[in-house]
Amino acid sequence: MYQNDEPDKNMPQYQRRIRYKGTYPKAFHEKYKELHPEKYASTVTKVMQKGGTPAGMHLPICVNEILTFLQIKPGQTGLDATLGYGGHALEMLKCLDTSGQLYAIDVDPLELPRTRERLECLGYGSEILKIKQINFSQIDQLISESGLFDFILADLGVSSMQIDNPERGFSFKSDGPLDLRLNPEIGKSTAERLKEMTYDELQGMLIENADEPHSIEIARAILYNLKKGIAISTTTQLRTIIQTALKSIPHITDDEIKKSCQRSFQALRIDINNEYEVLDTFLEKLPHVLAPGGRVALLSFHSGEDRRVKKSFKHLLNEGVYREIAPAPIRPSSEECYINGRARSAKLRWAIKS
Ligand SMILES: C[S@@+](CC[C@H](N)C(=O)[O-])C[C@H]1O[C@@H](n2cnc3c(N)ncnc32)[C@H](O)[C@@H]1O
Repeated sequence: MYQNDEPDKNMPQYQRRIRYKGTYPKAFHEKYKELHPEKYASTVTKVMQKGGTPAGMHLPICVNEILTFLQIKPGQTGLDATLGYGGHALEMLKCLDTSGQLYAIDVDPLELPRTRERLECLGYGSEILKIKQINFSQIDQLISESGLFDFILADLGVSSMQIDNPERGFSFKSDGPLDLRLNPEIGKSTAERLKEMTYDELQGMLIENADEPHSIEIARAILYNLKKGIAISTTTQLRTIIQTALKSIPHITDDEIKKSCQRSFQALRIDINNEYEVLDTFLEKLPHVLAPGGRVALLSFHSGEDRRVKKSFKHLLNEGVYREIAPAPIRPSSEECYINGRARSAKLRWAIKS
């Protein structure tokens, strides 16, 4: 460029990639290699070999155990009630072998289009895969179009993409807005919700949703700070309040404080997304959308969820609605837990409709 040349404003501006300090990127947005697996396959493989989940991806859990139970055959109609990254959906689609239909739903308006595009690129278009943004508490709305389902899978909770993205506010480990909504387009954020909770509600919720042993100290500290006009609008602000409150407990360890932070965020997530209410409704509606002999597999990740699944399956077995249920929860193998740390708390239960 000659000295007096002005840069052409109409030319696309070159955007420098965000640089990270040191060899290993830590922040989500810096992990550009993991976020582009199509270009950097070897980086993705390395992260997985070390037992990590690459940023922007979700590794499906108990795939073999689920497929062995569901016994999917070409021509059947199935439902993935929690599409997420589409890992389970992809395996179920392979079993359908181009004939039949898989309905796949999720409440997340941000990840859903990405998953649709990913699966479309793999050759699964709307002729075999029907993706809809619906809460699984409304599965009955699907059957006028789909008919009864031969198989259903629900893999409860949140995906790795949701947890890892600081903008969603699901993790106390990275700074972001205190949101925690699976669908951030509806309802209130957790920051707003906290402002309207009473002490009894907050303390009870920490116990009911996460069996938090320090619920009293945490609820007191949150309300004390809010009353003093101190904002709790970010994940870091909430984490700091919990840490400060628990540090004064004699002999408490850093690890125990970390677990309390983890449980408190889980409790708030369950609360803001009404996770127990929608799971109860889903469990009630399940037998009405399953074909005779239809199979359902449910993956849960904490005792509050598993208790509900177990109770509903047992009750409906006694009523004769299900002809068989899993005698005990199936756990992922130790190899799977080694490769994918997030599998450790998973419990799989199944039922077969009479
Ligand atoms: C653990 S991830 C599922 C991962 C998926 N099985 C895969 O292989 O990628 C759970 C997903 O369920 C969705 N979800 C949670 N509650 C839901 C609900 N009530 N209705 C529909 N989707 C829900 C979340 O948004 C998230 O994407």
